[in-house]
Amino acid sequence: MKFKKLVAVLSSVLLMGTMFAGCAPSSTTTAPAASTEKAAPAAQEEAKPAEKPKNDKLVVGFAQIGQESGWRDAETWSILNTAEELGVDLKFSDAQQKQENQIKAIRTFIQQQVDVIGVAPVVETGWETVFKEAKDAGIPIILVDRRADVPEDLYAAFIGSDFILEGQNAAKEMAALLGNKGSIVELQGTVGASAATDRMKGFTDELGNYPDMKILASQTGDFTRAKGKEVMEAFLKAYPGQINGVYAHNDDMALGAIEAIKDAGLKPSVDIKVVSIDGVKGIFEAMAAGEANVTVECNPLLGPQFFQAAQDLKDGKTVEKWIKSDEGIFRQETAKEDLPNRKY
Ligand code: AHR
Repeated sequence: MKFKKLVAVLSSVLLMGTMFAGCAPSSTTTAPAASTEKAAPAAQEEAKPAEKPKNDKLVVGFAQIGQESGWRDAETWSILNTAEELGVDLKFSDAQQKQENQIKAIRTFIQQQVDVIGVAPVVETGWETVFKEAKDAGIPIILVDRRADVPEDLYAAFIGSDFILEGQNAAKEMAALLGNKGSIVELQGTVGASAATDRMKGFTDELGNYPDMKILASQTGDFTRAKGKEVMEAFLKAYPGQINGVYAHNDDMALGAIEAIKDAGLKPSVDIKVVSIDGVKGIFEAMAAGEANVTVECNPLLGPQFFQAAQDLKDGKTVEKWIKSDEGIFRQETAKEDLPNRKY
């Protein structure tokens, strides 16, 4: 499936406010509602636990967060596309940013007796009960891209990045750009998401090594371009002439901030340095145009690692608890050469 086609399908689904269907021929999609597929047992029959159907094909449920950013679209594409390539029976649910929808989807996957459940937790807390239900049903959970605050025995593996390290690297890059001196504003991701909490922690901790650098203000932009712009406009009004750099927890918010900086008659990357996280094409285009400085990569193409781990779990093999992604740091100086090689 082509990435652009997927984004178009996802966007139209968002407008309809429904779950999308039929993206990949080998995939089935599911709404976050209780399944009605299982027939009720006959009254006089002895109550037995339902037998899991024997199936050689890998059956996987994936509870996605939504479509808040270009990064998320790339991750969804990677999951759908890899399932299609491998012939996995994928049941995919888009929670439209709501944890309650993700929880409903997980319960539906449990009823459908999938082999493995993947979830990208929108926030860190509130998962223990439903993960226990999956464990009791013998279905392993794989956390994809974001962590959940649960005991380790409630999930089989976490596949994703070191968000604290990303925050530390962003701070080092900002320090180098500002000559170790200056005032920064921070655009946080979704409140309560591990990607936001850890990126904030990594950045703040690292900044402790630079006594002449400080965070002037920090506020959530919810990982979206529109909110990133809105919050940056407010920062520019509140701190006129005082902002030397903006640190955004993702590229989409940085792109929104760049618009706000330009609207205020300033030059992004020159008057105000711009450092963000993800590595989506849009930020490479901005760097190539001289409007952003650095992006710290966070790889969304997790489909191959996810389905490998799911297959291993189905085959009874053990998998690593933290399957890490390989990632780099990209700067304005090489953006024009890097751009054609970007996959998302
Ligand atoms: O969890 C990863 C983060 O979620 C990405 O950095 C951001 O763009 C996305 O929305």
